[in-house]
Amino acid sequence: MKASETKATLSFSNGGDNVDLPIYKGTLGPDVIDIRKLYAQTGMFTYDPGFMSTASCQSTITYIDGDKGELLYRGYPIEQLATNCDFLETCHLLLYGDLPDQPKKDEFTKLVTNHTMVNEQMQFFLRGFRRDAHPMAIMTGLVGALSAFYHDSTDINNPKHREIAAIRLIAKMPTLVAMAYKYTIGQPYMYPRNDLSYAGNFLHMMFATPCEEYKVSPVLERALDRIFILHADHEQNASTSTVRLCGSSGTNPFAAIAAGVACLWGPAHGGANEAALNMLYDIQKAGGVEKIGEFIKQVKDKNSNVKLMGFGHRVYKNYDPRAKLMQETCKEVLGELGLENDPLFKLAMALEKIALEDEYFVSRKLYPNVDFYSGIVQRAIGIPVPLFTAVFALARTVGWIAQLNEMIGDPEYKIGRPRQLFEGSVQRDVKPIASR
Ligand code: SDX
Repeated sequence: MKASETKATLSFSNGGDNVDLPIYKGTLGPDVIDIRKLYAQTGMFTYDPGFMSTASCQSTITYIDGDKGELLYRGYPIEQLATNCDFLETCHLLLYGDLPDQPKKDEFTKLVTNHTMVNEQMQFFLRGFRRDAHPMAIMTGLVGALSAFYHDSTDINNPKHREIAAIRLIAKMPTLVAMAYKYTIGQPYMYPRNDLSYAGNFLHMMFATPCEEYKVSPVLERALDRIFILHADHEQNASTSTVRLCGSSGTNPFAAIAAGVACLWGPAHGGANEAALNMLYDIQKAGGVEKIGEFIKQVKDKNSNVKLMGFGHRVYKNYDPRAKLMQETCKEVLGELGLENDPLFKLAMALEKIALEDEYFVSRKLYPNVDFYSGIVQRAIGIPVPLFTAVFALARTVGWIAQLNEMIGDPEYKIGRPRQLFEGSVQRDVKPIASR
């Protein structure tokens, strides 16, 4: 963090003393005003519900330029990573700061591959759920339960523990997501296969059965690997901030990641991919493209509480670069599967076109985000709608861990403890119940 020559001076109209606040510059993006001493100097807090103007930390991992619609992982544009790398190379980049050379990639891949099995006891957790449990309810339980098995990697202040916990989580998430899916359809779990790629192994655990050979489709394998890359990290979004705040108490990494899973589930966040696909289904059922106008009218009516799911973003006020790549992946996968006329994909593109020409969306800078097309690709791959957010959690685990480890390694980090503007009752005395 570099101090800037300029500083901010706070003056008070009631004649209170001015307060000088240092300004710091990053390598990219907005400067920050350091308010850490503000309360001590003024007895006042800042007020920023939703953190619209607040930087919660310094980070070197991911940078988003919301106005230009750019996304960099450790400086590499997402477009280049999605076309030239695979997910495990991207994991290495996010965790260690650089893309691996071939020997490092082979070593990292071997490490992850050898941790893909979960303790046999894990399957007994699933039996407690109803078969129709939402996969994210199961995942929230299973990921937290991992901390019951790996006592040798739960001391978050021990770098060795952090390293092995990171590998275990990245390796085991696909196994757990596939188990959650198999449980809901009453099929036997498939063990991971060390001869398959990360994405190929996930497809195998999801769709193979013990009854016959399952052939991994290279097209689906590549598409899924790219979906994982696009979802891997995204700066200080709600679930990443949850993981950081949870981890700041010193809890173990499995518990902190479980908190991230729980937060991602919300429809305003990672749950939007499931909600976006269900929205497309509803418009389809109501009559398809000719019903888009009616739907858009509902969205623009504030009382309807209807949102165009998969649209809008706190940071992107331009097209989410991941949505562009996801749309391309849609075209590729649907084309390869002979589904280029998939009605839902056509409906999504028609909906996007109409929305991007409508003043309501243009004036609010609402564009498709990562969740708008991801459901269509996942559905084409054969992943059921309720599992979409679990796939998002699988991919985002590496980002959560990288951000958590960066926080723990930051000498400035402390337990997160926001304050408040209190507007409740002043002190009053308890009356005996007879006179209340
Ligand atoms: C993710 O933060 C991240 O990086 C998240 C993520 C990641 O990778 O981690 O990118 C993943 O969560 C993507 C977002 C997925 N969510 C959705 O697609 C749900 C639909 N989108 C909205 O809920 C909303 O756009 C948010 C939550 C994404 C962003 O909300 P903000 O930043 O709080 O913006 P806002 O709600 O204040 O919206 C500004 C205006 C409002 O209208 P006015 O009050 O100004 O009249 O735009 C409207 C909103 O009502 N608006 C929408 C809308 N999104 C915003 N209106 C209709 N449909 C929408 N989708």
